[in-house]
Amino acid sequence: MMDMADWTDETAWAGTRAPLRESTGLNPSAYVDERFFALEQELVFERAWVIVGTAPEVAEPGRMLVRSVGTKSILITRDTDGELRGFLNTCRHRGTELADSDCDIAGTIRCPYHRWGYGIDGTLVATPFFDEVPRQNFDKADYSLHSVRVDTWGPLLFACLDAETPSLTEWLGDLPERMSGYGFDDWRIQEEATLEIGANWKLISENFQEYYHLTWVHPELAKVSRVNDHYRYQGSGMYCGQTTTPVSGDDRDDWLVLPAADGLNASDAESGRHIAIYPNVIFSVLPNHVFVMRLDPIAPGVTRETCTFLLPPSTTSVSHEEMTPTRDFWFDINNEDIDICERGQRGLTRGRIAAGPLAPRFEEPLHRFHNMLADCMTAESLATGLTIPPGDDGSEESRLGTGLNPAPPTIEISS
Ligand code: FES
Ligand SMILES: [Fe+2]
Repeated sequence: MMDMADWTDETAWAGTRAPLRESTGLNPSAYVDERFFALEQELVFERAWVIVGTAPEVAEPGRMLVRSVGTKSILITRDTDGELRGFLNTCRHRGTELADSDCDIAGTIRCPYHRWGYGIDGTLVATPFFDEVPRQNFDKADYSLHSVRVDTWGPLLFACLDAETPSLTEWLGDLPERMSGYGFDDWRIQEEATLEIGANWKLISENFQEYYHLTWVHPELAKVSRVNDHYRYQGSGMYCGQTTTPVSGDDRDDWLVLPAADGLNASDAESGRHIAIYPNVIFSVLPNHVFVMRLDPIAPGVTRETCTFLLPPSTTSVSHEEMTPTRDFWFDINNEDIDICERGQRGLTRGRIAAGPLAPRFEEPLHRFHNMLADCMTAESLATGLTIPPGDDGSEESRLGTGLNPAPPTIEISS
């Protein structure tokens, strides 16, 4: 029985571990089973670097975010020195949840139950009436909040519950360098929306990563982002990517109505980069805006998607109306994607048939993504058991996916 597979054993992942041209998609259980979902929460989401929001949300000292990572709730705040801090959202007295939603704190995290107070560095600073009958050997220093690793790359905010996992820098590999021309540190949030989708989080990410479906699911998108203008955009690091080069087609310019960011190089100015950082953030970078989708798994067939538009610092004060063409175009595309992902979820749930073959030219990023999942599910520790993909090393064979996936055209630098 498929459901009884031992997902921590390599033998369950034979179709994923096969070379690209012999590989298959994931077993349907990976999308529909409660048991797989629970294991994935523990082995993937409680060990990986998981996106939990955007850096501007916690820009000010005293702002505190409450986010879920796997089965855990965490707090993220910034101290007066500007350093990010992360903690488990659990009091060290009798375990009460400290906060239930994002809030501002005046220098102290207070438990609502018996009012123990913690400084922004997590140290226990207040225990009201606790000493009325003193305990022996009680030292507040032994009862700091449990800390959680938090870090940022540009506007993206990440957390990691496992101390053994490599640093975010190692996790991201060459991506920050590859995308350094955009100057992401200074991009700002323009607007945000949250959706609930009736599909497994992996279906949403996979659908974003492959460009096989564009012609049929997105007839309008295909006019600005033609299938044959899509190429791999992958290096070392826990991410899968593609580039649309050039980004514009002949018929529509909805993506390009806002002014381009200042100072882009010729390739960035002509391209769209579509990146899935494993496991749960997918985002598109256009010359003039970024569209980020954070995926929070709620149940095997339910995902919360938080969508954020970011604009470059050179684009100031864009009104809600001025964003309309960009926003509407994205949400039209996104609605088409949501419909097909929900249909995928229904087919997988009701059919439960064996996984089919991947299309090498258009679905190679899925093979890479599935192997990251297989690594996380089978590794005893991400410190040693994770193979961060080395990416395209520049050789023809590696860069072009053994000749199946052509390189983007060279963009001439105009003088
Ligand atoms: S449980 Fe938090 S102060 Fe008692
Ligand atoms: Fe799509």
